[in-house]
Amino acid sequence: MRAWAWVTLSFAGAVATGVVAAKSPASVAQDTVQVSLPAGNAFPQGPGSDLANQHCLMCHSAGMVIRQPPLTFVDWKAEVTKMRAVYGAPLPPESVEDIARYLVTFNGRP
Ligand code: HEC
Repeated sequence: MRAWAWVTLSFAGAVATGVVAAKSPASVAQDTVQVSLPAGNAFPQGPGSDLANQHCLMCHSAGMVIRQPPLTFVDWKAEVTKMRAVYGAPLPPESVEDIARYLVTFNGRP
């Protein structure tokens, strides 16, 4: 079973900045929150899967990518480029082709 959770994190320092000066430090609550990410949110093991796990999971699940219809190398390259250029994925340009090549290995077509 998969456990999904929406988590809202607020950072006490940032939220309380204006208020902290007026209060004694002891009144600032400091909670430790542990967040467990769902197990199994990873790309199929293979050459390049490390890159995909590193760069493609900060905004959506691996399933979001895995469940897409098969694409050609050129189309996967365009897709990964869109993640960079349009959605702002912090991905080095030299990794685009490597990731596209990897995606084709399990969800590609000629
Ligand atoms: C900065 C955030 C971000 C990162 C990082 C990211 N994506 Fe996305 N991705 C999105 C958003 C936003 C959507 C659109 C979601 C929706 O339509 O609900 C999306 C959608 C997709 C889709 C569905 C088709 C589409 O175009 O909407 C695929 C496939 C995909 N991403 C692949 C990838 C791959 C592969 C990587 C790693 C190289 C990646 N994404 C990294 C933000 C990101």
